[in-house]
Amino acid sequence: MNNHERTFVMIKPDAVERGLTGKILSRIERKGFKIIGMKFLQMTKTKAEELYAPHKGKPFFLPLLEFITSAPLVVLALEGPDCIRQIRKLMGSTNCAEAEPGTIRGDFGVSIQNNLIHGSDSPESAKREMAVFFAEQELVSYQRTVEKWISPAPASVH
Ligand code: RTP
Ligand code: MG
Repeated sequence: MNNHERTFVMIKPDAVERGLTGKILSRIERKGFKIIGMKFLQMTKTKAEELYAPHKGKPFFLPLLEFITSAPLVVLALEGPDCIRQIRKLMGSTNCAEAEPGTIRGDFGVSIQNNLIHGSDSPESAKREMAVFFAEQELVSYQRTVEKWISPAPASVH
């Protein structure tokens, strides 16, 4: 297992506007994810087009750009074993109306577009998306003393 897997996460404008930033961050933290980068910003149209380039041409592309640039958001870089898959489980299905209760989207929303949070879907996406908002030297490398208590593998496997 790659202990240094990284993923890119956004707490989207709907969550910030609704005052849910802290609640969502707290769910990310309590699950044990390690934050290695965090910024609060309003996305420019240029960055939005770059981030969502893989969706260009889809019917929801232009409304998505409008939404994601409409208010501030929080961008996060996380690091840890299996964090790409694990954060997407915590987020729930894309459409909040279908997302399971207990997930962030399932508990806080009903919209497909205004779905509160983004998480990269693969290591390639994570690398590409993270580079849109973070320079490599902005990501903080540090050791947490709690690591052995939250690692998915038993201590003997390390
Ligand atoms: P995300 O990329 O934000 O983590 O979400 P996802 O993988 O679950 O969804 P994706 O298919 O990548 O779509 C990116 C974002 O576009 C908006 N969307 N709107 N109106 C629609 O049918 C529709 N479909 C997607 C959502 O904000 C979604 O997260
Ligand atoms: Mg996606």
